[in-house]
Amino acid sequence: MNDTIAVIGATRGTGLAAMRQLIDAGRPATAVVRSVEKARGLFGDKATLVYGDVTRPETLAQAIDPDWAGIVFTVDITGGIAGRGMFASREKIRAVMYGGLVNTVEACKQRGFKGRLVLLSTIGLSIPSTGMKILNWVKPGLRDHSIDKAEYLKKSGLDWTVVRAGILNDKPGGAHALTITGEDRPLEMRYQIARADLARVMLACVTDPAISKREFSVFWGEAGHDSDAELAAKLAALAG
Ligand SMILES: NC(=O)c1ccc[n+]([C@@H]2O[C@H](COP(=O)([O-])OP(=O)(O)OC[C@H]3O[C@@H](n4cnc5c(N)ncnc54)[C@H](OP(=O)(O)O)[C@@H]3O)[C@@H](O)[C@H]2O)c1
Repeated sequence: MNDTIAVIGATRGTGLAAMRQLIDAGRPATAVVRSVEKARGLFGDKATLVYGDVTRPETLAQAIDPDWAGIVFTVDITGGIAGRGMFASREKIRAVMYGGLVNTVEACKQRGFKGRLVLLSTIGLSIPSTGMKILNWVKPGLRDHSIDKAEYLKKSGLDWTVVRAGILNDKPGGAHALTITGEDRPLEMRYQIARADLARVMLACVTDPAISKREFSVFWGEAGHDSDAELAAKLAALAG
């Protein structure tokens, strides 16, 4: 296994933040993208760029390197209203959110990938809330697709981590200590997190031994900042 971390979903949001953190730290990074041109505009020659569309399994079989240390998977449907796939059909959303993860898992198995797949999921899937009701209405079936993708990964035989994030924002990271808990929380504004902070946690999950086959929730706590050691201790606490 080498030190490379691959990001699928690298050209926007949390995946883009993860790529930027890897590049800033001088760590080997690969972006698996459906537009290499767009990725080149974002990362230049500072990362390896590989074509891969999660709705096209044959492209993933070509893209995945079995020697990567891990894959950070942050794919979500894009386009449509607000660029976030709102009011797309249930089938289209499922093809990306659930089908994309299934195709990635199967390609990993086919290629003999031995690293860890770190999957972005959401809090509030097991607790009824108005927030989840609204989200499930604007993105039909989101709750089912999110539950199903995590279950598929957990049963895959691969090494995995499922990170259930609070409501995402694009504020700068590093201004809050993080709450990390094995418990679920309702999808409410008081449980928020910046994509930059979430990206940092997801990257830490690739190599942290405590996080193998764990699912947890993460959202902002008090103002402050977790050092790398403090973050590692919070992740280690999940292992009991
Ligand atoms: N929004 C929230 O408050 C919230 C809360 C908790 C969890 N989540 C979860 O967070 C995830 C989304 O994170 P985000 O908002 O940071 O991401 P995002 O900005 O929506 O980015 C999605 C990424 O997926 C890529 N993508 C889309 N279709 C693809 C395909 N067919 N093949 C390969 N890549 C594809 C996009 O690439 P292009 O640039 O090519 O479009 C983009 O890089 C979802 O799983 C969501 O359930 C969201």
